[in-house]
Amino acid sequence: MNEPNFQIAVIRGDGIGVDVTDATLAVIEAARGRVGGFRLTYNDLIGGAAYYRESGQDMAPGAEDAAGDADAIFLGAIGLPEVRHEDGTEISPHLRLREMFQLYAGVRPVKAYPNVPCRLADPRAAEIDLIILRESTEGLFYTAAAHNRNPVANDDEVQDVLRITRPTTEKLHDFAFRLAQRRKAKGRGGSLTCVDKANVFRSMAFFRQIFDERAENFPDVERRYNYVDAQALDLIRRPWEFDVLVMENMFGDILSDLGGGLVGGMGMAACGEIGDEHGLFQPAHGSAPDIMGQDKANPLAAILSGAMMLDYLAEKSDQPQLADAAGVIEDAVQAGFAENRLRPMEFGGDMGTTAVTDELLDLIR
Ligand code: IPM
Ligand code: MG
Repeated sequence: MNEPNFQIAVIRGDGIGVDVTDATLAVIEAARGRVGGFRLTYNDLIGGAAYYRESGQDMAPGAEDAAGDADAIFLGAIGLPEVRHEDGTEISPHLRLREMFQLYAGVRPVKAYPNVPCRLADPRAAEIDLIILRESTEGLFYTAAAHNRNPVANDDEVQDVLRITRPTTEKLHDFAFRLAQRRKAKGRGGSLTCVDKANVFRSMAFFRQIFDERAENFPDVERRYNYVDAQALDLIRRPWEFDVLVMENMFGDILSDLGGGLVGGMGMAACGEIGDEHGLFQPAHGSAPDIMGQDKANPLAAILSGAMMLDYLAEKSDQPQLADAAGVIEDAVQAGFAENRLRPMEFGGDMGTTAVTDELLDLIR
C-alpha cells in the first residue's frame, strides 16, 4: 500500500522537553495506529542549552537545514538558566528557527477542560475556548532573534527594537481572520480581537491600520479591538467572551502564559508556529529544569501541540486522515478529563508524565 509518509524533525531540547516529546510521539503513534493511512518518520536533531554547554553551538551542524527539509518540526523545550550567552541571555535557537522559517503565526489555544481546577470562581470559566495568535518573528523579539541587532548595546544603554512590517502583518491578520472564519464554521465564536497599544505606539497604530485594511476581505468576522493592558484585565474578568485574539510577539508571549494560567497551567499550553512553508510545534512552556528527570511534568501541552501538527499536515497535504488522528488525540484528552482519568500533578493530581501518557494511550487504543 502506498501510504503517504511525512518527515518530522524532532528537537527534544533540554529538561522536561525530552520527556514530553517522548510522550507526544508515543501518543501520535497510537492515534496513527487507530486511524491508519499515513506514516511518520522521525528525524532526531540535536540542539539546546546542554548541547551548547558542551559544544559552543546551540544546534548540531546541519540541524537547521534538516529541520527546513522536514514536513514539520516538533520541539520539546530549550533552555537552562545556568547556561547563557555572554550578553546574559539564554540559549534560544528556537527564536532563530522562527525567523529563518518565517513562522509568523503562533497559534496558542486556551481551552478549559472538565475537572481541571479553574482559578476563576465564575462558572462561565468552564466555557473558555479562545486562541491567542502571537506574531512570532518580529515585534519586540526582532532584536532578540539575532544577538547583534541591538542598535545600541553598551555599558550605559541597551536598546531593543519593536519592529512591525507590512508584509508579515498582512499575512498575520489574514491568518487570524481565516482562523476566526473556520472556528465560526464549527460553531465557535467567530470574532477576532486586535490586541495592541495603538493609543501610544506608532508601530501599534500601524498594526491596527493593517488589521482594518485586511478586515475588508472578511466581512463575516466580527471585528473587535482591545488595548493589551485592558486585554490582560479582561482575560481575568470575562475570558469566555473572546474567540481569536491577534497580537504582537511580546504581548502574545505574556498573554499566552496568562492564558495557560486560566486553564490549569503551562502544562496545558499548546502551540503551533506556522509560516507559509514551514510549521513548528511545541508546548509554550519552558524546559522546567526544577522538575526535570522526576516524571512530574504534564505532557499534555506537548501532546496537544502534536495534535496541532497532525492538523497542520492534514491541511498542507490534503490528507484528512491526519486530521482524524488529531481528533482522536483531542477527543481522548477531553474524555480523559471528563471521566477524571487524567489527573496531572501540575494541578494537584496524582499522575506524573508516564501515568498521564499511559492513560491517554489506553484511551486511544
Ligand atoms: C515561548 C517561550 C519562548 C519565547 C522562550 C523559551 C524563548 O517563552 O514559547 O513562549 O519567549 O518565545
Ligand atoms: Mg513564553
